[in-house]
Amino acid sequence: MTDSEDGTILLWLKRAAGFFAVLTLLSPVATYGAEPQKIKPPWEAPEGDKKAKNPVKVTREGLNDAAKLYLQNCIICHGKTGAGNGPQAKKLPQKPANFTDAKMMSKVTDGELFWKMSTGRPPMPAWQAQLSDTQRWQLVNYIRTFAGR
Ligand code: HEC
Repeated sequence: MTDSEDGTILLWLKRAAGFFAVLTLLSPVATYGAEPQKIKPPWEAPEGDKKAKNPVKVTREGLNDAAKLYLQNCIICHGKTGAGNGPQAKKLPQKPANFTDAKMMSKVTDGELFWKMSTGRPPMPAWQAQLSDTQRWQLVNYIRTFAGR
C-alpha cells in the first residue's frame, strides 16, 4: 500500500464518520419535526370550495346508499351515531369529527364538508380517489342527518 492510498482510505473513513455524526445529530430533529401534530391549525376549506353548492338532492334512496358507504368506510372512526366514537377512534392521535354536534355542523357548509372528506387531513383519510363525487355529496347529506335537520 502506498502512502497516497493510505491517505485516501483515511479521508474516506473521516468522511463516513462525519456523515454518520450528522445523521445522529439530525435524527432527533426529524422526530421532533413530526411531533407537533397535536396542536393543529384550524382546518379551513378554500373559499371557492366552501361556497360550492351540493348538486345532490336529499332523497331516501340517496341516504340509503350513503348509509352503506358510511358503514363500510366511516363508522370505524366516526361511530354508528356519528359522535366521533367509532372503535378506531381511541387509537387515533385525534378525535374524529362529531357529526351529532349541531352547533358545529351549523357552522360548516355542504361545500366545506365535501372538500374536507375529499382531501382529508391525517388521520382523516382523503376519499376523492375511492368515492365518486355523487357518493361524497350523498355522504354530506347523510352525515347531516346525525345532528337532526
Ligand atoms: C381513520 C379514521 C377516519 C375515517 C375512516 C374517516 N374519518 Fe373523517 N375524520 C377523522 C378525523 C380524525 C377527523 C378530524 C380531522 C381534523 O380535524 O384534522 C375527521 C374529520 C372529518 C370531516 C370534517 C368535519 C369538519 O367539519 O371538521 C368530515 C366531513 C369527515 N371526517 C367525513 C368522513 C367520511 C364521510 C368518512 C367515510 C367516507 C370518514 N370521515 C372516514 C377520522 C376518520
